[in-house]
Amino acid sequence: MLKADNLHYVYTSGLIKTVKKTAVCGVELEIFPGETVAVVGESGCGKSTLAKMLVQQLEPVSGEVFFNGTKLTGMSWKNLRKFMGKIQLIPQNPDDVVDPRWTVEKSVAEPFIICGGFSREEISTNVDALFAEVGLSAEHKTRYPHELSGGELQRVVIARALALKPELLVCDEATSMLDVSVQAFIVTMLKEIQMKRGLSLVFITHDLEAAKAVSDRVLVMYAGEIVEEGADVFDRPLHPYTRALLDAARYMSLEVVVPEEIGELPYGFSGCSYYRLCRERMDACKKPQKLQDVSGRLVRCWKSKCGSPKN
Ligand SMILES: Nc1ncnc2c1ncn2[C@@H]1O[C@H](COP(=O)(O)OP(=O)(O)O)[C@@H](O)[C@H]1O
Ligand code: SF4
Ligand SMILES: [Mg+2]
Repeated sequence: MLKADNLHYVYTSGLIKTVKKTAVCGVELEIFPGETVAVVGESGCGKSTLAKMLVQQLEPVSGEVFFNGTKLTGMSWKNLRKFMGKIQLIPQNPDDVVDPRWTVEKSVAEPFIICGGFSREEISTNVDALFAEVGLSAEHKTRYPHELSGGELQRVVIARALALKPELLVCDEATSMLDVSVQAFIVTMLKEIQMKRGLSLVFITHDLEAAKAVSDRVLVMYAGEIVEEGADVFDRPLHPYTRALLDAARYMSLEVVVPEEIGELPYGFSGCSYYRLCRERMDACKKPQKLQDVSGRLVRCWKSKCGSPKN
């Protein structure tokens, strides 16, 4: 359904001295109908940048995104509009989507107005149905965002995202600003909506337990790259970074073991992106690492092919 081919993104900042930061580097992924794919990785590894490229909020520096076989990247805004209701982003912060000066009813109605072709009555009926679908009452409709709890507001964002019958929801840390009990409620609700509507979900999170609970497949990102991908990644992690991520989640109170200091890597170092922090690095890791198939798993580490990574 959604396919991303060799996506790269580089941020440029600074007026006098420009600084370039590669945020996403060579990401390939495919999302199938009805599937939930979790994307995990530490803060700053490029998850949100990837999400924005998937929903066409950012144009990749290179690479392409296809939706049901149609290339979206490089498409004019006029043509892109037809597809935009079909792929929706649910961001971490509801303020990115709902206007604080509008009632939430108006925010949920907006996609129908932008899309056009709906009568006033149709919009009203659709908005009512969307509020009901996310468990909000008619009484919530006339409130302003600041008059709702965090969980209620995130439900408004979900209602708005569902307006134009999407086929794919990209949830970028969509529950991380909420209390733990509300997080569980929203995730359960999203899964129910997914089942009912037959949607695909990309579930971006740093919560490994949530990722494991909701997903059919997991992508692990490090430094802008996918370093591991598979269905049972958390039960049998093969990449040293995935293991470090799981250890950090399991033993939060324990001291993190870092490898012997090796100083800055030389400019233009093209070897493994995890080389500096990897406890298992060897000279051979100074060569570029490709994602390779290891018994049905994709892993960006030559050692995993030898069956050597230790637990
Ligand atoms: N607007 C921006 N300008 C410059 N650098 C940015 C910008 N947005 C993000 N970055 C950098 O790009 C990298 C990836 O960011 P992001 O995609 O937000 O990661 P994540 O969502 O995994 O935390 C980070 O190093 C971040 O500092
Ligand atoms: S290629 Fe080498 S440095 Fe990179 S993750 Fe594997 S063992 Fe570690
Ligand atoms: Mg992010």
